[in-house]
Amino acid sequence: MSSERGNWGSNVGFVLAAAGSAIGLGNLWKFPYLAGKNGGGAFVVVYLGLIVILGFSLMLGEMVIGRRGKSDAFGAYNNIKKGWGFIGMLGILCCFIVYSYYVVIAGWIVKYIGMFIRGGLTEDPVLTFGNFIASGTSPILYSFIVVVVTAAIVLKGVSGGIEKASKIMMPILFVFMIVIVIRSVTLPNAIEGIKYFLKPDFSLITPAVIIAALGQVFFSLSLGMGAMITYGSYLPKDSNLIKSALYIPILDTVIALLAGLAILPAVFSFGLEPTAGPGLIFITLPRVFAAMPFGNVFGIMFFLLVLFAALTSTISLLEVVVSFVVDQLKLDRKKATILVSIIIAAIAIPNSHSFGPMADFKVFFGLNFFDFLGYLTDNILLPVGGLMLCLFVGYVWDKEDLKNELTNDGDIAFPLFSAWMIGIKYLGIQLLSLILLQAVGITGKKMSYSLVIIFMIQILFHVLENKRKVSAV
Ligand code: PFF
Repeated sequence: MSSERGNWGSNVGFVLAAAGSAIGLGNLWKFPYLAGKNGGGAFVVVYLGLIVILGFSLMLGEMVIGRRGKSDAFGAYNNIKKGWGFIGMLGILCCFIVYSYYVVIAGWIVKYIGMFIRGGLTEDPVLTFGNFIASGTSPILYSFIVVVVTAAIVLKGVSGGIEKASKIMMPILFVFMIVIVIRSVTLPNAIEGIKYFLKPDFSLITPAVIIAALGQVFFSLSLGMGAMITYGSYLPKDSNLIKSALYIPILDTVIALLAGLAILPAVFSFGLEPTAGPGLIFITLPRVFAAMPFGNVFGIMFFLLVLFAALTSTISLLEVVVSFVVDQLKLDRKKATILVSIIIAAIAIPNSHSFGPMADFKVFFGLNFFDFLGYLTDNILLPVGGLMLCLFVGYVWDKEDLKNELTNDGDIAFPLFSAWMIGIKYLGIQLLSLILLQAVGITGKKMSYSLVIIFMIQILFHVLENKRKVSAV
């Protein structure tokens, strides 16, 4: 059965593929602009803190569900505890939606590679970018290129497609990244950008910064959407989950930090603003490349590395959905991949048009199609998925059984089991509730009261659980 589903050829292959899923536009496009917008170092410090207290724990939580459940995200939850597959279903839905807009941004990257190959900017970057994304067909065609390439890789299966592609793209990404960082930090005045990025001004840490950083931790580590469950399900029983759950967030964070160091010092060096938001790499950065000797070469390198990062993520987004169709609907991998890709391509159209012909078409809450889907995934589906994951690992899955799975029936030591549990049960649930409460408009005092009530319920559960244990003895 497991060989039909596919398996990783090696543990290195798995780590590279999972790191590939984590490292993506979230690191290279979103993280630098979020840091640029949210106070630089202040945002970075909060982000790093959250990776440490939550990122590792949840990564391990998802991977252990996958390896034990040995199925797609829906099937894995269900296999561990009947009736809980709906959590995985939420994740699959979330991946599907994220994929439909992720390909649009990835398409812009393809366009920019072409632009730099042809010699770089020919007019003002604001106009170049604005006109391109607003045009009806061209961005759609670029996003289709991403859909087709992603499908071609996923079609080839877990070790023959995903693992192979990750093993080629990830090392190139690392090397290009190092080159760009060295170029950026050695520019005149780069130190200003480095300071802005790495020197925290603690007074800039606000609840909004914490919430932004928390959302980013989830998105960047591909958590709460079943991606690590799906990838974990292709792992053999004797693999060391604890080690892998450490490596992947470390690699992801290193790349996010390097992305900041690749972009912000260069932006400061040329006297530009770091607060451009989503346009940072499409508007501000091309200006930097235009002003730099051999800028086009660096431009091509930079956008190629972003494309590789994006592709290893789109592969995982598609794989989550395909594995569901294969495992649950019993379609073969080829048919499943083609079917899902065609639907995605269709939904990519209104997503892309949200920057042009459909910009004024508001779906809900005054948001256009692209922004609405982004809001739905980032503020609702992702935190709900994460919260459910914490509830499942913390309260639903039998502790002994979970511990056995994590430690390969006692072969691997995991002395931090209790600390990990506390992280998931208390920190995880509190922090995710915080995102959700603010997403539904409960803020200020009301938010604090709600969090206290949740905590009290948890304490009550804890007491009841202990009583049950005592009476069982
Ligand atoms: N982690 C990816 C990024 O940082 O771009 C995005 C992502 C990929 C999220 C796959 C979720 C996922 F399942």
